[in-house]
Amino acid sequence: MEWTQEARYRTYESMTAEERLKLERCVSASPWRQKYHIQPMYGLLNDPNGFVWFKGRYHLFYQWFPFGAVHGMKHWFHTESANLVEWENKGVALQPELSFESHGIYSGSGFVHKNSLYLFYTGNKRDEEWNRHSSKCLAIMNRNGKITKRDVPIIKRQPNGYTEHFRDPKVWQVEDKFYMVVGAQRENVTGCVLLYQSYDLIAWSLLGEIATKETDFGYMWECPDYFPLQNYGILLCSPQGLKPEGDSYRNIYHSGVWVGKPLNIENGHFDHGDFQELDAGFDFYAPQTTLSPDGRRLLVGWMGLPEIEYPTDSEGWAHCLTIPRELSIKEGLLCQQPVRELKEKRKKEARAAMNVSNEVSDLGELSGDCFEMIGEIEVGNAKRAGLRLRVGKGEETILYLNTETQKVVLDRTNAGLSFAQDYGSIRQKHYSKNKIRFHIFMDTSSIEVFVNDGEMVFTSRLFPRKESQGIQFFAEKGTAKIDAVQWKYD
Ligand code: FRU
Repeated sequence: MEWTQEARYRTYESMTAEERLKLERCVSASPWRQKYHIQPMYGLLNDPNGFVWFKGRYHLFYQWFPFGAVHGMKHWFHTESANLVEWENKGVALQPELSFESHGIYSGSGFVHKNSLYLFYTGNKRDEEWNRHSSKCLAIMNRNGKITKRDVPIIKRQPNGYTEHFRDPKVWQVEDKFYMVVGAQRENVTGCVLLYQSYDLIAWSLLGEIATKETDFGYMWECPDYFPLQNYGILLCSPQGLKPEGDSYRNIYHSGVWVGKPLNIENGHFDHGDFQELDAGFDFYAPQTTLSPDGRRLLVGWMGLPEIEYPTDSEGWAHCLTIPRELSIKEGLLCQQPVRELKEKRKKEARAAMNVSNEVSDLGELSGDCFEMIGEIEVGNAKRAGLRLRVGKGEETILYLNTETQKVVLDRTNAGLSFAQDYGSIRQKHYSKNKIRFHIFMDTSSIEVFVNDGEMVFTSRLFPRKESQGIQFFAEKGTAKIDAVQWKYD
């Protein structure tokens, strides 16, 4: 179908029963539906929004365009979970109704206050000349789940000196005041984060930019988030426009953090180290964090990227969210670990331990397309050693250690249907030791690899055939050793 402007800017309400049926049929024929990741019923999912613990449950919303796998009129779709493992679809929470949000309810965050869930979002509007107007808006969900929107924006437009690329509010509290970060673009077309303050969550005043040392680092910073972690201050965002540098910034857009001293909330000064890319894989963007009731800092990201065609696009759906991860800082490095709640999914357990020399071997009984796997690889005197996953006729996804180049490598060159080829099919990251611990989460069409307790993470979509379920271990030019345990999830 042709995606005219008219077709892209419709609300979910206007979907006919026939259209829905057609989409449902199309999606149900897809071989790549995920088993345990949050994914749209149909249409396109992008950023996680409003991730929060409220009324004894996690609430997680996401950007959703209902009619197909393209970007258009965005809604907030609502999911809920008691345990971060099973998610329940609750339906559309926010849809465009008011003039200042006529072209989409864009990203934002949730904040619990006085027994209600405050949803801060971006009102996206286009005028007759198709110029963008962006405001910060508020909707409040009461304890019964009823959502009421404020009929005027809480921040009407960007301040002077900034362009209309002004979006994605994230709110937190320090003592008796509330703070909001908003992603912005300066008039000189560089990205930054603006900081606002409020006493009541309704009236907001601009404090200024968060003063970082990055004055020219991409043209727009999307989806900012600020939070304290283990006595550090963390500024997270998704800067657009970074150029590849060695093995870094190889995707179209990137997400990362600056770890620093706690933000000086009076004057916006932030003393921080270098930008750390959050993910070394192919498909990760626009993550958002929240606090669990027991004080863990949790992160969920979009397992996808804009402006890339994905194999499911022709099936009327696109993308999913990552599994929830717990953040920590180790020696100044932000680490991500899968949340421990996911252990609930572990079913059939299988173990394997072996040495291989200059060969490829099946890894004992291990196989599958939907599982969790933990293990350790010792490269010994081999030059390269690692795992081949989703192995089938001509297909394999390879995760290995290359001791010659001193890199951990994820290679999806022959993973299945290829896509995003302009951005290459190999991702790698420097690593100087010859032993790694890995923790893998495989779902029908994705892989998330946590290396050495989350010091590096590779998040990627894969589109192999269903039958490609083999798991092998290999060593080249020497002998290597592996110890692994796997749990099938279904
Ligand atoms: C990031 C983003 C946000 C915006 C939303 C629109 O992927 O571009 O900046 O609010 O997606 O869907």
